[in-house]
Amino acid sequence: MKRFVINPTPGLYYGKDIILELPDFIAEKGFGKIALITGKSSFFRSESWKVLTDTLKRKGIQYIHFTASGENDPGAIDRIVASLSGEGIDAVTAVGGGTVIDAGKAVSAMLCMEGSITDYLEGVGTKAPTGAKLPFIAVPTTSGTGSEATKNAVISKIGPGGFKKSLRHNNYIPEAAFLDPALITGCPQDITAASGLDAITQLIEAYVSTGSNKYTDALAIEGLRFAGKSFPWTIEEGSDIEARGSMALAAYLSGVALANAGLGVIHGAASTLGAMHQIPHGVVCGTLLGAATERIIEKVSSGEEGWNNSTLKRYATSGIALNGKDAGSIEDNCQSLVSRLNKWIKRYGIKRLGEYGFTKEELKRAAGSVSPKNTPVELDTKEIELILLSRL
Ligand SMILES: [Fe+2]
Repeated sequence: MKRFVINPTPGLYYGKDIILELPDFIAEKGFGKIALITGKSSFFRSESWKVLTDTLKRKGIQYIHFTASGENDPGAIDRIVASLSGEGIDAVTAVGGGTVIDAGKAVSAMLCMEGSITDYLEGVGTKAPTGAKLPFIAVPTTSGTGSEATKNAVISKIGPGGFKKSLRHNNYIPEAAFLDPALITGCPQDITAASGLDAITQLIEAYVSTGSNKYTDALAIEGLRFAGKSFPWTIEEGSDIEARGSMALAAYLSGVALANAGLGVIHGAASTLGAMHQIPHGVVCGTLLGAATERIIEKVSSGEEGWNNSTLKRYATSGIALNGKDAGSIEDNCQSLVSRLNKWIKRYGIKRLGEYGFTKEELKRAAGSVSPKNTPVELDTKEIELILLSRL
């Protein structure tokens, strides 16, 4: 029997206009002063921003507002933390895409630790995070990273000598996540497509991960069912509140699944490539998803067991969940998974790596630094190189 441990999950508040209940939640917890982090434009300029901040004021809750955009640079996080220290902040709330949620998560931790965030980043810093933090509430306005349910915040420095690394501790899982599809309907098509494919990558990678367990399996498969039914509609009918809600839940479930099961080579590549050029995380995952899945399936199926292999059964089950129908054999379902993914990547215009400035030489060099993470089959550098080059 495989033993497993599931970390605490955030309190989940789900539904259209559920954000209107956020001020009550903050008041009930006794938080008198909060840091409120948002993106630079969409939510900050929306009617929901006005309603939220008016309600906070009416309830006597003070807030200090900061914006985050682009990638989370260590300097930007350090500056927000420096501005907030001594302010007597009780909690941090972030309303925005994955970067904004990660910024809020990082700030809530760094307000309780000394020094720069760089000191505590995995593979970069020399200190281990203490786990001390202020309560953190995540309100995503995109459906992708699942950061509202995970224990890490991604911090990046892009370019030569750059990195894309995590500040990570089990305690960093947010206290609450408010999933309000009404906040997501305005998300542009290209961001919706890339974010959605990130969530789908996370669900598949967590499901086939060597770190998966029965609990994460249940979440990942249900997440893939939600995504299969709703992902195309979130792009083609962005105002469809039901589709937006299902995809928000799929992304949240992907976050719980990945935080407890781990991820695979696509996310390994996303860390390496994301530190080299300015490329959205969802685009790296989305662009590699079809090619990497195909390559892994090809490699496993050429092994001794052929198609009668437990990893391939998992890919086949992912295909059934995402397609909403059983194509027949394991081989047929694996193939229809790959063709579904490639169809979406093409139809929704997920760009290739070359469009973000990557060259053949760079990708060849990068392949050697890609961590396979919890990929269920061993991939050598040459095989990873072929996956990357196939999306040049
Ligand atoms: Fe991701």
